[in-house]
Amino acid sequence: MENSERDLAENLVEVVVERVLPGGLGLAHFDGRTIFVSLSAPGDRLRVKIERVKGNVAFAAINEILEPSSVRIEPPCPYFGRCGGCDFQQMNYASQLDAKAEMIRDCLRRIGGIENVPEFSLTPAPNEWHYRSRAQWQYDAVQRRLGYFESGSRNVCDVAECAVLAPELQSTLTSLREQMEQGALPDDARDFRAVVGDTGVSISNSVRNPTVREGASNQTPVDISRTIAGETYRLNAESFFQTNADLLPQLIEAALHDAQGERALELYCGVGLLTIPLARKFTSVVGVESDSAAVKFAQSSLGLAGLSNTKIAREDVGTWLASNEQNLRSGAPDFLLLDPPRTGAESRVIAGILGFKPKRICYVSCDPATLARDLKKLIAGGYSLDSIVAFDMFPQTHHVETVVHLVLAPSVD
Ligand SMILES: C[S@@+](CC[C@H](N)C(=O)[O-])C[C@H]1O[C@@H](n2cnc3c(N)ncnc32)[C@H](O)[C@@H]1O
Repeated sequence: MENSERDLAENLVEVVVERVLPGGLGLAHFDGRTIFVSLSAPGDRLRVKIERVKGNVAFAAINEILEPSSVRIEPPCPYFGRCGGCDFQQMNYASQLDAKAEMIRDCLRRIGGIENVPEFSLTPAPNEWHYRSRAQWQYDAVQRRLGYFESGSRNVCDVAECAVLAPELQSTLTSLREQMEQGALPDDARDFRAVVGDTGVSISNSVRNPTVREGASNQTPVDISRTIAGETYRLNAESFFQTNADLLPQLIEAALHDAQGERALELYCGVGLLTIPLARKFTSVVGVESDSAAVKFAQSSLGLAGLSNTKIAREDVGTWLASNEQNLRSGAPDFLLLDPPRTGAESRVIAGILGFKPKRICYVSCDPATLARDLKKLIAGGYSLDSIVAFDMFPQTHHVETVVHLVLAPSVD
């Protein structure tokens, strides 16, 4: 069989990757069709296997590297490609940063409708490897596997050493694996979560079929403390905490450097990473967070810091905004900070914010696409971009953290 006939029969096509898109896939074209190629690098000439077609778009995997991109490197991790954790190890670090900056610009332009995206800096991570201080490991008790989900599946990729884990978490993973080999891990465990503190690691595990709630923890993890930029935060393995502590002092500074006034409101405040620095700057602060454990930790850390000017409401942000609408309209906070999960802020949250229009907003985001979607609405509601900065909190993956400041344009009437 001729090469081209075989290629056609096996769904193989030859493409050149033009750039990396938000979401981490490489963009290529073939025969008028857009092809998304996973784990590729810009400039790669590849033979790819089309795995899925949706309208004019096809999703493909690399079958053969015909000519590697000048930024392509040998991924150092032996699990790369199978493990769903990292998707950027095939690119050198400088090109990972270029790709992330381009993703932010692309989202702001295409999704946010911002024509002239201002120049912004993207601060590299001090540690490209071994930076993760929070992790979740999937457990398959039948196959005796502990690691991360394989990409695009619920199969557990058994990982003995993870190249992005902080040393403390690597030791935790090694010790859990020893217990697994001795048959000492609970059979009903679904996953294990761990987070590094100043003096130890907090670990929890969720169970597969709890009588109470799927995914509930079957043991209470120990509470620990973590000191960031001179402030001490209480937390445990169950609550959200940023995965990369190395850049947190700069992130906090970028979010709050020019925040000032009497009253601040913080939506999605978590365990209070940004709440304590806010409480140092404002006369009064209100934080809103739905996770009751995170609320308890935020309150406890504020108490330990001797800060009594801050109230934390345990509520869904949208519900809280709706029930406080009148108060917010009659006296808007001077500064609004929001750091929502990857899905961004719900429509009703953005509508709620536009109902009382604080003079300044800082939006901290770990997903440029949902950030751009929400910025579009805020800009249409009267805000303009004041500044953008980005931080590479997640080397070896396509994820990136962005901090955007917005100001309310003066009203024309
Ligand atoms: C990206 S984290 C940010 C937390 C905090 N700013 C930090 O850096 O540690 C988002 C937080 O929003 C909370 N959250 C998610 N959806 C929420 C909702 N609808 N209402 C209130 N809080 C929510 C999560 O529990 C999580 O603590």
